[in-house]
Amino acid sequence: MELHFHSIVMACMISPLLFLATVTAVKGPLNFIVVGDWGRKGLFNQSQVAAQMAMMANRLQIDFVISTGDNFYEDGLTGTQDSSFEESFSSIYTASSLQKPWHLVLGNHDYRGDTLAQLDPDLKRRDSRWNCYRTSILKQNLPPSCKGTKCSFVHFFFIDTTPFVDHYWNSTKHQYDWRQVSPQKRYVKKQLKGLNNALKVSQATWKIVVGHHPIRSIGEHGDTIELKEQLLPILEANQVDLYVNGHDHCLQDFTSDKSSLHFVTSGGGSKAWGGVDLNSNSEGLQFFYPGQGFMSMQITPVFLKAVFYDIKGNSLHDFSLTKS
Ligand SMILES: *[C@@H]1O[C@H](CO)[C@@H](O)[C@H](O)[C@H]1NC(C)=O
Ligand SMILES: *[C@@H]1O[C@H](CO)[C@@H](O)[C@H](O)[C@H]1NC(C)=O
Repeated sequence: MELHFHSIVMACMISPLLFLATVTAVKGPLNFIVVGDWGRKGLFNQSQVAAQMAMMANRLQIDFVISTGDNFYEDGLTGTQDSSFEESFSSIYTASSLQKPWHLVLGNHDYRGDTLAQLDPDLKRRDSRWNCYRTSILKQNLPPSCKGTKCSFVHFFFIDTTPFVDHYWNSTKHQYDWRQVSPQKRYVKKQLKGLNNALKVSQATWKIVVGHHPIRSIGEHGDTIELKEQLLPILEANQVDLYVNGHDHCLQDFTSDKSSLHFVTSGGGSKAWGGVDLNSNSEGLQFFYPGQGFMSMQITPVFLKAVFYDIKGNSLHDFSLTKS
């Protein structure tokens, strides 16, 4: 089975699953938390980050959580019955404020296990919060601006970035589960075409693209050259507001001089303090924090506010975008 954006858009229309979270009561902003690179059975401060996420989720009354991938270290899940699912997810994020839908992408470490297990409906039966797809589109209405049947809304485009990265395909160090993805070129091309088409037709007020690998980063791994070359032009051509990722175990915010796009990294869900890649390009860098943490976002029809927090819940950096 091959997934691409056309079929996902259609699947969204007929699948109650992806629309579940859109039926929210009229309230203030859409609020959510973004965390990445977390699944370590509570170790490396995963539990401490989870505790701060819970406090912020309660304060903001969040609608959902986004995971930017690397959901289970070191090698994903061994299958749908893997106890890491409880040990790193269900029994870590236990606060009632976090009992909301989780929308997840896969990271490279997830690809080192049974990737199909993370996509399997069995996991949703084990924990109903779990919504993990290779690629999907989530629509969230912004109720205060509904006029008649017309609502302002956000589109989140979740993409599968691991297959873009050439060196994983030739790795002798690790095994990657390329089932349903191979051959690389065809899958990557389909994804790019699907995303481009979906972005083009989107009438969303805000367009947010979520993937695991950064486009821009001064963290350990630096920029992902494949995404810079192949994905970035599509984001720029389609007025995407934010590209959100994990992979580098830090928090970052970059602006672009070519568009209003912000590149944000939320990859501080557990192990961090990997340092800075001093050779990398820091053009547009607004903020970098090499430790653990997470982000919150608040969105209305006219503004978007993003805040970065450390492990103690201190807000380290924020930015706001506006629409007229
Ligand atoms: C966990 O966080 C504390 C600060 O709250 C820090 O001192 C410690 O080094 C962190 N541990 C790891 C493994 O990063
Ligand atoms: C893998 O290595 C071969 C031989 O060096 C090369 O031809 C091929 O392009 C590489 N594939 C990727 C995806 O990098």
